[in-house]
Amino acid sequence: MTEQDFAVPLEAPKYYRPDPSYRERSWIGDYQTAYQKFVSDPEAFWKARAAELDWFEPFDEVMQWDFPYARWYLNGKINITYNCLDRHVKNGRANKVALFWRGEEGEEKAYTYSQLLRQVCRLANGLKRIGVKKGDRVCIYMPVIPEQVVAMLACARIGAVHSVVFGGFGVNALNQRIRDSGSRVVITADSSMRRGKAIQLKPIVEEAVVNAPSVETIVVLRRDEPRVELHSEMEVDFEELMENEPHTCEAEVMDAEDPLFLLYTSGTTGAPKGIVHACGGYAVGTQYTTKYVLDVKEDDVYWCTADPGWITGHSYVVYGPLLNGATVFFTESTPDYPDAGIWWKLIRDYGISVFYTAPTAIRMFMRVGEEWPAKYDLSSLRILASVGEPLNPEAFEWFYHHIGGCRCPIVDTWWQTETGMHMITTMVGEPMRPGFAGQPIPGVFADVVDSDGNPVEPGNGGYLVIQQPWPSMLRGVYNNDERYRQYWTTIDSVYTATDLAVKGHDGNIMVIGRADDLIIVAGHNIGTAEVESALVSHEAVAEAAVIGTPDPVKGNQIKAFVILRNGQVGSDRLVSDLRYHVRMTVGPIAMPNEVEFVDSLPKTRSGKIMRRVLRAQELGMDLGDLSTLEE
Ligand code: WTA
Repeated sequence: MTEQDFAVPLEAPKYYRPDPSYRERSWIGDYQTAYQKFVSDPEAFWKARAAELDWFEPFDEVMQWDFPYARWYLNGKINITYNCLDRHVKNGRANKVALFWRGEEGEEKAYTYSQLLRQVCRLANGLKRIGVKKGDRVCIYMPVIPEQVVAMLACARIGAVHSVVFGGFGVNALNQRIRDSGSRVVITADSSMRRGKAIQLKPIVEEAVVNAPSVETIVVLRRDEPRVELHSEMEVDFEELMENEPHTCEAEVMDAEDPLFLLYTSGTTGAPKGIVHACGGYAVGTQYTTKYVLDVKEDDVYWCTADPGWITGHSYVVYGPLLNGATVFFTESTPDYPDAGIWWKLIRDYGISVFYTAPTAIRMFMRVGEEWPAKYDLSSLRILASVGEPLNPEAFEWFYHHIGGCRCPIVDTWWQTETGMHMITTMVGEPMRPGFAGQPIPGVFADVVDSDGNPVEPGNGGYLVIQQPWPSMLRGVYNNDERYRQYWTTIDSVYTATDLAVKGHDGNIMVIGRADDLIIVAGHNIGTAEVESALVSHEAVAEAAVIGTPDPVKGNQIKAFVILRNGQVGSDRLVSDLRYHVRMTVGPIAMPNEVEFVDSLPKTRSGKIMRRVLRAQELGMDLGDLSTLEE
């Protein structure tokens, strides 16, 4: 998408206003007052946020900015798991439920804060026993089960850097992420459940560790009966690893700037980027936003539907809510299995009060009809939230009416893997404008600018940028400093989010979509490069280009243009073959919906494929500036 592709909405804004009691009772209070207080002294603001956590040793300075590298909470010592677990156990939440989990077939598990701490410590001790040390990378490739969360926390407990890979990725995607991170250990499970079927994960791991010499041990959680065999000497049983370990484990004292985790996000060119987050600032940012943006309170039952394998899961299934001592519900079940009422049934059964999901899910439910939620009493809901892509006004209205009962505020949170925490939203209690995410949260300086960095006039489109460092910002791209610097140099001296946006006259920001070739399919970021290289790794393919085309439910879907090798003939059979090939190498989320065989692809004179032209052609739009086109 380019700057010219979107129309600026000029009609009179329409607002929804939550009952004033929401603002009165919210942690944030009045947005303008809170924002002005932040602006008057940003350092004091972030110091106060950090004071909501327990530090082993206090920091001596809030932030040092050596462009484009920021360091936060200098010389402060902390462990995020101490803050997520121990301090709640010590402060009266020992027997409060930390995690409620529900499996597809209705199995249920609950862990109190004290139980969760014990499990985490036992696994942490087990990991130490097999040689995992502070700073080592550990890859976690698991389904959405409590052990996935336990594994993340166990790593953080001992200072190992986790690199969680979404359980829906295929062999190549996993292999690339293991190799780039140099993971010593891979923690996985035999299978994950999807619509009543077990999907085998272990064979994917077995293939993915070939040519990944850093891997010494694979820890396998065996869920199925009869238990899968552990083949090589490398493989260790998850439960045996914990079995005889003590249930206490001193939390490693981490410097605020030590890495906490790596999380890969798709790039537009080349390999996925390992986004690095640091212990101190990430803890502060996720604690703050879970409390003040999602307004989570002591008695809430909180459900964020994201997979912990994505950043939303890291920040708002695991760390943010646990830092706040919340009760977190999560589930392995898909939204439409056994039927399209399952999520609403779960909200009723668990009394969910804060519900955080994605526009693609909302649109899927819109399509199946409001009779499904209407069957269930959803009056426990207090706050709704959305993330991942623009919440279009139709989806906003449906969510507001049919799920929120015209009562619950909708918090549309804009942020990224790189930002670690929410950046732009409409705070609880403030007037909501459908289609617009909202305004920068207290703590964040953001704006919409042109390519020279000048703020655009209200009503105009431009690039969304963040103008000052924030605590949970990425500290780097693993093994790729140049790529890190690009975030801060594409537009001079500010962080470029690579999203296009429009600023309204009321200050609200509407996020339009990506300015690059990243395709967001059902809320998952798909790099064109990853799909294209999967396609050309197929023996029949010479060249490939993929684009996103609009889809009413998933936001976008993938269309591939393929040039075949000499002697190959396009057929329906080959189309399904290619789709399957992408499915196995990158994963089901990256599978093209459509494959078209072509004789040539539009390229620049320097040989770069002009996906913009393909897309414009496909959608019947103006082809734009073609001066760089080869012929
Ligand atoms: C998009 C997910 C509009 C955006 C937390 C961003 C959104 C990318 C919103 C990051 C939103 C996320 N409105 N667009 N509320 N939230 N996006 O790294 O294009 O998986 O750049 O992080 O998702 O995706 P990521």
